Parts: sequence; C-alpha cells; structure tokens
Amino acid sequence: FPHFEYKQDILHAEQVPLETIAQKFGTPCYVYSRAAISATYHEFQQAFADDDYLVCYAVKANSNLAILNLLAKLGCGFDIVSGGELQRALKAGGDPQKIVFSGVGKLADEMRMALAANILCFNVESIGELQLLNQIAAAMNMTAPVSLRVNPDVDARTHPYISTGLKENKFGIPIEEAEHIYLSTDIFSNIRFIGLDCHIGSQLTELDPFVQAGERLMSLLHRLQSHNLKINHLDLGGGLGIRYTNEALPSIQDYVTALRKTLGPMKLRLVIEPGRSLIGNAGLLLTRTAYIKHTPERHFAIVDAAMNDLMRPSLYKAYHQILPINKRSGGSCNYQIVGPVCETGDFLGHDRKLNLEAGDLLAVMSAGAYGMSMSSNYNSRPRAAEVMVDGQTVHLIRARETIDQMIAPEAILPS
Ligand code: LLP
Repeated sequence: FPHFEYKQDILHAEQVPLETIAQKFGTPCYVYSRAAISATYHEFQQAFADDDYLVCYAVKANSNLAILNLLAKLGCGFDIVSGGELQRALKAGGDPQKIVFSGVGKLADEMRMALAANILCFNVESIGELQLLNQIAAAMNMTAPVSLRVNPDVDARTHPYISTGLKENKFGIPIEEAEHIYLSTDIFSNIRFIGLDCHIGSQLTELDPFVQAGERLMSLLHRLQSHNLKINHLDLGGGLGIRYTNEALPSIQDYVTALRKTLGPMKLRLVIEPGRSLIGNAGLLLTRTAYIKHTPERHFAIVDAAMNDLMRPSLYKAYHQILPINKRSGGSCNYQIVGPVCETGDFLGHDRKLNLEAGDLLAVMSAGAYGMSMSSNYNSRPRAAEVMVDGQTVHLIRARETIDQMIAPEAILPS
C-alpha cells in the first residue's frame, strides 16, 4: 500500500500518523489517501495513452462527494445505478456527458432525471426497460442515447454473488437476442443506439474472461455494422480485481492493453467502469480495540468497528488485511477480530497473528471500495466518519453520524 506505510513502526496515511486521526476524529473512521486515488486514475490514463477512451468510475464502490469531486476534477466520468447516484455525481461536479446509467431496475423517475440531465448513455438491460425509456423520452420530446447491456455468458471465475456475466444471472440481454433489438429502431422512435455494453463481474483476477467477453461483443458489433448501424462506443464494464492479500493480479496497464487488443484496429471509443480498482486500496478502516477476551477456545479482539461498517467479511467471507497502527515488539497471539454486533457473523478477520492490548488501534486495509457505501445502521450504530488525507493535511469528508440524525426520520404513532 504505497500511501499507507510504516515509519518507525507507526502506520501512516501519507504524512499523517493514523493515531493522530483517531485522536482527532474518533473511531471507527474510514481514511482515504488523495494521492493514492489520483495515482490510480493516472495509471488508467497512461495505459490508454492517446486512444479515445472514457473512464466512468462506478459510484457504488464509494459515493462520498469528496471522492467523486476529486475524480471529476481529474477528468473522470461516472457509472451510476440510481437517481441518488446521479444527484451525487452532478453535485460533485461530474460532467453529464461522461455519465453512463447502468442497472437492471431503473424506474421512470430515475429515467426522467437522467434524460433531463442529458447524460451520455443509458445501459439498458431488458426490452421492458427499453420500451419504458422510449415512452418517457417521447413524452419529454427527447431521444434517449442507449447501449444494450448484453450478457455474453462468460465465467468471471469470482465469488458467485458478484459474478454477473453468466446466462443464469439476472443481468443483461442474452447476446443472441441483442442483434434483433438493435435492428428494431423503427419501433423505438425515441431511442438512439450509440453503444454496446457488458459487465461480467467484480474482483476478477485474470484477464481471460474480459478478453472472451470483449471478443463476443466485437463479433456482435461487426454484425451490427454490416447492417449499417453506427455504434460509437464499446463499454466493457468494471471488474478488475485488487490485491487484498497475496493474489497474483494483472496490472492496470495489462488490463487496458488486453481490452485495447480485443478491439483491434477499430476506430471506436472504449468505455470502462472501474470501481474497486480505482478506490479499493486507497482507503482503510481505522478501528480501536475495546476489549481483549481470552476464552478456553479462542482469543478475541473486540473492536469498535463491525459488520455494519464493513460488511464484506460477513457477506462474502472476504479477506482484508488487518495491521496494527503502532507495532509492538514481543510475541503474537492468534486473534479473532470481531465487532460489537450481536451475530457470530460479525467479524472483520479470523486467525490474525497480532500482539494486542485493549485500546490498540488497528487498520482494516483495502476498505476504500464497498466499505462505507455498503454500511448500515444495524444495531442502531451511527455511521462512521470519513476523512481524506492529503500530504500532511486531514480533511473531514463525512462527519460521524449522530444518534439524533439516525433516528430523526422516524415517527411514533399519534396515540
Ligand atoms: N459496472 C457495473 C454495471 C457494475 O455492476 C459494477 C459492480 C461495476 C461496474 C464496478 O465493478 P468493480 O470495478 O468495482 O469490480 N459489493 C461487492 C462488489 C459488487 C460489484 C457490483 N457491481 C464487493 O464488495 O465485493
């Protein structure tokens, strides 16, 4: 983690010791590195070199306004999946002409908002959705720009919950049916087909499935072109994995090179929708050990972050490295790192060799993506604070939720 490093046995975020952040902002707290986000975005930029490309950051990975704003300023576009994400992207200064709208269940209001905002493209996932979008666009006297999201039926070889490109998944339009729909322009008078899209899954650790999907899309594209349909861009979704432990992973450069190769000499804009690979390793979750508890069976470190703050270990059995903020010398013990929530599934890590005392701070690494954005108030726990480190400066980018804020929308019955 180049922007989270030990200096004299104390873990830092850029130039700032994490202990200082815990003292000032409390725990649990998400900590992001501005330099890490910028560096990763630049890696994508450099990999594409002079090609016609658009990186649309998948907002769902982490939708904090400061992060979206930072990416927008770097020139990044956005992949959104709801009206809420659209509002965030616009509020953060996102360029509507760099916004693509994905998702299997877009609602009429969300379509209206996105048409009114003049976004670049709707990634449409079913005939029903296409019909509704056509109607709404007609009522607004507009033409909706569309890519069909096809399901290329390739195995992403990742966790089944986050694999999306197999024909049994709910996503996309079967690739065999897509051609027919693209050629039905006469019935969809207020739709303009401008692109072709797929997304096969997340946390992919090999390039092969991307290449297979790309090839299937290219062969569809050639058929469409033989019917004189003009397609401006190919959107290959997101999905590039990050290193959580010691996985062997393709670099961003290798990934982009493989995608460009699949396109061949075709003059076509390439769109990608990375989420995790842009932000995952740019953030950590800072937590404090409340208790050390030894039972005859196990050693537990009970920390103040829980499954409601970071759901990935409970939901996917995902592995996140857990590092001490201040390294202690001496022997270590085999700890179960668990939160205060009343479920056995509430853990952040199992069997971690650490030397710990109550009060010690820990960093749960690789928590930039699908951490805060998947958090909840389960057990009536207010949501964590979020800060962004920039060199020696720490900016609060989301205040810790208060209990009053948490219960404010609720009401009791009149009598
Ligand atoms: N595009 C579409 C249409 C997507 O559905 C997704 C993610 C992305 C792009 C971004 O994928 P990425 O580059 O981040 O892999 N909560 C899970 C991950 C769910 C991914 C859902 N779709 C996790 O924590 O592992």
